[in-house]
Formats: sequence, C-alpha cells, structure tokens
Amino acid sequence: MTITAPSPVVDSSEEAFRRLRDLRDRVMEGVSADDPVYLEGRRDYDDALARLRLHMREDLRGRAGGGGRGGMAQTRISAGTAGRSRRKVARMDWEKWHEVYDAPESPLARRLSAVQERIRLALDDCPAGPLRVVSLCAGQGRDLLGVLPGHPRRADVRARLVELDPKNVEVAAGAARAAGLAGIEAVAADAALLDHYDGMVPADLVLVCGVFGNIADPDIERTVDACRQLCKTGGRVIWTRHRKDPDRVPSICEWFEERGFEREWVTDAEHVQGVGVHRFRDQPVPLRLGTRVFTFVGYDKLRV
Ligand SMILES: C[S@@+](CC[C@H](N)C(=O)[O-])C[C@H]1O[C@@H](n2cnc3c(N)ncnc32)[C@H](O)[C@@H]1O
Repeated sequence: MTITAPSPVVDSSEEAFRRLRDLRDRVMEGVSADDPVYLEGRRDYDDALARLRLHMREDLRGRAGGGGRGGMAQTRISAGTAGRSRRKVARMDWEKWHEVYDAPESPLARRLSAVQERIRLALDDCPAGPLRVVSLCAGQGRDLLGVLPGHPRRADVRARLVELDPKNVEVAAGAARAAGLAGIEAVAADAALLDHYDGMVPADLVLVCGVFGNIADPDIERTVDACRQLCKTGGRVIWTRHRKDPDRVPSICEWFEERGFEREWVTDAEHVQGVGVHRFRDQPVPLRLGTRVFTFVGYDKLRV
C-alpha cells in the first residue's frame, strides 16, 4: 500500500515520529515523567504533533476547496521554512542532561557508577608521584569529581576537564573548589581541538565519557587514534558508548586494540550504556597541535 501526502505532511510526520522516538529513548534511560529532560522532550514532541495536525488540516482544506495542487504548493512553502527554523530551536540542554544522573536506577546513573569505580581502580594502580588526568567533553565532571575527594591520591592529581558549556564548567569548577581540589582545572573549550591538552599529556588517565555516542563513526576512530597522543605508556583510557543498534562497542575495542591499547575491562552487552577501559602498551606520539579530531553532533541529531 502506498500512502501519498504533500511534503509538509510527510516532513512533519517524520519529525513527530523522531521526537516520539527520542522521548521513548529518554524513558528507556530511566528518565521519569517529572524530570526536566522528559518535560523538554515532551514539549518538542507536542510541538511537532501540532505542526503535523496543522499541515494535515491545510492539506484537507486544499483538497475540499478544490484548491488541489495550488493549495498544496502554498502549504509546502510556508511549512518548509517554519519546520526548519523550529528544528534549530530544539537544542540539547547539556546542563539539564546531567539531572538524569540523579535517578539512581537509570542506566546513565549506573554508567556513572561504573566509570567512577574504574577511575578509583585506575588511580589505585597508578605509580607513586604526580598524576595527570584529562577529560574530553567533561560535562560537570561528576565522574572524576565523584571519586577524587575520597581517594588517597587526591593531592597527587592534576586534571584538566575540557567542556564547551560554560554552565557545566562552572558546576565542575565549583565542585572542585568545594572539595578543596586545587589541581583541577575546568576549561570552557572545544574538546575536539588537541591544543587544549597541551602541557597535560601524555596523561595517566584519559576520560572519553559521553562522547562516542554523539559523534560519527569516522570521528570515533579518529578520537581513539588521538588517544595515542593523550595517554602515557601504562596509562588508561576510560570510555563509554551506548549499545543501542548499531552497537559500536566491538568496533571501538578493535580500534583501540589495533593501536597498541590492551582491553582491560568492558561492561557486558546487556548494559545499554557500555563502559570500557583500555590500557596503553605502546609509546605515545607527540601532540599534534592545531588538529581537531571530531565534530560533536549530539546523539539526538546523529540518528535523524
Ligand atoms: C553526554 S555529555 C557527557 C558529560 C560527561 N563526560 C559525563 O559523562 O558525564 C556530553 C558533554 O559534551 C559537551 N560538549 C559538546 N560538544 C563539546 C565540544 N566540542 N567540546 C567540549 N565539550 C562538548 C556537552 O556540553 C556535554 O556536557
């Protein structure tokens, strides 16, 4: 069966479907109905549905009034511009995104616990002396800053958290200050540009958490490759990637392992939010200043 409809109706129905699918994903991640993340997703879906209804009504009016093609063409012009400009407005709020961590049973909160546990173990195993940590797209730094205050190596750690959203940077810097962690810098910058790690690498610990699900596959591989510039021999990369279709965890492991990293630990496949630890066994390569390794697309847009 083929259903035909003018393009404004098709476009807006596809958009409504995408918004609904995004909302379903948030619920599967454990977001509850009173959570701001859910409420924002719900608003996006309601808006998209309202646009779909509008275009369907316009189409029906055009047909009933004998406007035929003329009516549809008019609708197409106005809906095209309205649809596009609204899509731009529906931007991810990366500060609110962190509130999902406050639901302890959510897959993302479980991912955070797993990452924290791996950070704890990695620090336990680091050689005596000063330690360096870098975090790409660090967000509010809840992973590292959730561990360091209670860890015996806290005074040895210098860390640079690179995060684009200034509100998240402020939260991370405030948490570090409140915990008396003088060695932590939170920098508002593009984590994709390797210059921002200058002077801090090769590091004992490289955190690439919440990144691989938001960038395209070739950029994941480029970022894995760049870890040879960021990680010292014997150091570790702790990374995350969801396991929804397409599950890229096996490829990510291969990409690390082709580049001198040894698999130390990876979550079982049934955990929807995967976490991995790879240990660098090769010699680091010098930092290539001026290189950008990924474009942060956002998981909401990657699947569109
Ligand atoms: C999924 S969150 C992960 C945050 C944190 N790493 C965690 O796992 O809790 C992704 C973060 O990347 C930040 N971000 C997006 N593009 C970025 C870029 N080009 N450079 C640095 N941070 C970026 C967002 O603001 C957001 O806080």
